[in-house]
Formats: sequence, C-alpha cells, structure tokens
Amino acid sequence: MFRKRYRMGGIALSALGTLVMAGVFTLGAGGASACEECKGKYEVDGKKSGYLYSTPATQAIQDDDFTNPGFLWVERGRQLWAKKEGEANKSCKDCHGEPEKLRGVFPTYPKFDPKTKKLINIEQRINRCRTEQMKAKAWKWESDELLSMTTLVGYVSRGMPVNVKVDGPAKPFFEKGKAFYFQRRGQLDMACKHCHIDFPGQYIRADLLSEGRAGGAFPLYRLKWQKLGSLHRRFRGCNKQVRAKPYKAGSDEYVNLELYVKWRSNGLPVEVPAVRR
Ligand code: HEC
Ligand code: HEC
Repeated sequence: MFRKRYRMGGIALSALGTLVMAGVFTLGAGGASACEECKGKYEVDGKKSGYLYSTPATQAIQDDDFTNPGFLWVERGRQLWAKKEGEANKSCKDCHGEPEKLRGVFPTYPKFDPKTKKLINIEQRINRCRTEQMKAKAWKWESDELLSMTTLVGYVSRGMPVNVKVDGPAKPFFEKGKAFYFQRRGQLDMACKHCHIDFPGQYIRADLLSEGRAGGAFPLYRLKWQKLGSLHRRFRGCNKQVRAKPYKAGSDEYVNLELYVKWRSNGLPVEVPAVRR
C-alpha cells in the first residue's frame, strides 16, 4: 500500500513524509533524554539500546533493583532452580550448581543445534534440560515458569555483551531471519526495518520508536503488559501492529528472526530484567 503511494504520480516523496501523511507517524523530538553515564553503558559502536529511547521515569524503574518489578521473576527463577522435578527427580541445581555458573551462556543464544540441525534459543535450551535431563514436561511458552527461568539465566549474564554467532552452520538461518526483517507484511505493508532501521527517534502514535536492538533486554517487564514478556511476544505485537498474522512464539520463523535481532544487538549489554513502557 505504501509502495503504491511511493510511485503515485512519480513524486519522489521521502518515505518518512509518506508515513507521516498516512497518519502513521508524527514527527517527534527524536532521541531521548538519558543520563550521561547510561549513554556510555547502553550505546555501543553507535548502536543504542531501547533503554535510551525510554523516558527517564521508565529508566529509573529499571535502574533500581528494588523497584524493578522484573526482579520478582528473578526470585521465582531461583526458587524453581532448586526444585526437584520430573521422573529423574533432579533440579537444575543438582547438575549446574549455582545459577551464576551459567554466566556467559545467555548472550550466545540462539545458536546452531547439531541435534535438530536448526537454531535453538535459550527458552528451548532450558526446556531441553527439562525434558531430557529431568524427564519433566517442557514449560509452556510465556508461562510464568519459563519466563522466570529465562529471566534468571539472562540476569546472571547482566552487563556482558550480546555475542551471537551468525557464520558457519548458523548462516542460512541468519539469512532467513534477515529476510523476515526486510519483508513487507500485513495490511500496512510494512517491514520491521521500516520502523526500526528507518525511523528510530520518531513517534508512532504515543511510542517513541527505538532501533529494536533488544537482544540483551528480553524477557523484560512492560508497563503496558503489567508483567514480564518474552522477545517472541514482542515480535507478535509488532506483527499485529501492521495487521499481519503473527507466528507462534517458539516457531522456527521467530527463532531465526531472533538471531537476526540479537546480531543487531551484538556488543550491547545484557540488561535482563529490563523495563519498557
Ligand atoms: C541431570 C543434569 C541436568 C539437569 C537436571 C539440568 N541440566 Fe542443564 N545441562 C545439563 C548438561 C549435561 C548440559 C550440557 C549439554 C551439552 O553440552 O549439550 C546442560 C546445558 C544447559 C544449558 C546450556 C548451557 C550452554 O553452555 O549452552 C542451559 C541454559 C541449561 N542447561 C539450563 C538448565 C536449567 C534451567 C535446568 C533446570 C530447569 C537444567 N539445565 C537442568 C545437565 C542438566
Ligand atoms: C509500525 C512500526 C513497527 C514495525 C513495522 C515493527 N515494530 Fe517493533 N516496535 C514498534 C514500537 C512502537 C515499539 C515500542 C517502542 C520501541 O522500542 O521501538 C517496538 C518495539 C520493538 C522491540 C523492543 C525494543 C526494546 O528495546 O524494547 C523489538 C525487539 C521490536 N520492536 C522488533 C520488531 C521486529 C522484529 C519487527 C518485524 C517483525 C518489528 N519490530 C516491526 C513498532 C514497530
């Protein structure tokens, strides 16, 4: 639909102008007012975390571990960590010791999994230990348990740079994720790139668009959700915003997309549990 408008009468409208005319965007101040030291932490090689596009009030909630509601999930994750379950009657702790032993793991997922010959992300990796090591049932996507454990596993790597590999056997999946990012879809006929590469710093309705570099931020607490949510939940929301049919959380399409999104975040720090509007 926007494509047609671009060509209308051969007038070379800037893409932004078109979108503003279509009433999708309003021109905003651009950039966010963040404290100077946060800038150093959350801006790496010109890449900015969504943190820097949040309001100072939202940033303040994230910055204080006592007010950050995401820590309720970290705590729940710790309880589950020590809970024996499944036919093997084992807990994560029985095999892995303290959760801090997994420091450094979170920033490297998704990665190629030789067993299934496709990518595996961190939620799926946790569930594999549930089903194969503990002989317990996999946790459902977006369940409180899976969110809590993923948040704990993310939290123990807080501050470390996102560092996913996209070469070797991961390459074809990375390419698929990238293609997804640039593919127009939905009634609004827009790709991820139209919002997060072309227009960060502009307002779309009440939201200040970020660069979508959330590789180190999810699961995060959204004030709008009033709870923690996964990166795939965010993908579903963004697909729905352009009135496209969302994929299932945990689908191959979203895990491939996740690798691309995390690669865009390589170098930015893990900030789980982050807080956003
Ligand atoms: C019976 C022992 C056992 C239990 C119980 C267990 N794990 Fe594991 N876990 C392993 C082994 C062994 C590996 C390494 C497998 C491999 O190298 O492929 C592993 C790997 C992992 C990894 C990936 C580490 C990496 O370096 O990529 C994560 C994350 C993980 N486990 C989380 C958990 C969580 C969370 C639980 C509890 C819900 C759990 N595990 C329960 C044995 C266990
Ligand atoms: C119509 C514009 C639009 C499109 C298209 C869009 N998004 Fe978003 N997205 C948003 C808005 C608005 C937000 C919330 C503010 C922000 O962080 O940009 C957001 C947030 C995000 C975030 C969270 C950023 C953070 O740090 O909290 C991620 C990740 C994301 N989008 C990924 C995607 C992906 C992947 C696609 C393509 C499937 C996509 N978006 C398509 C508008 C869009």
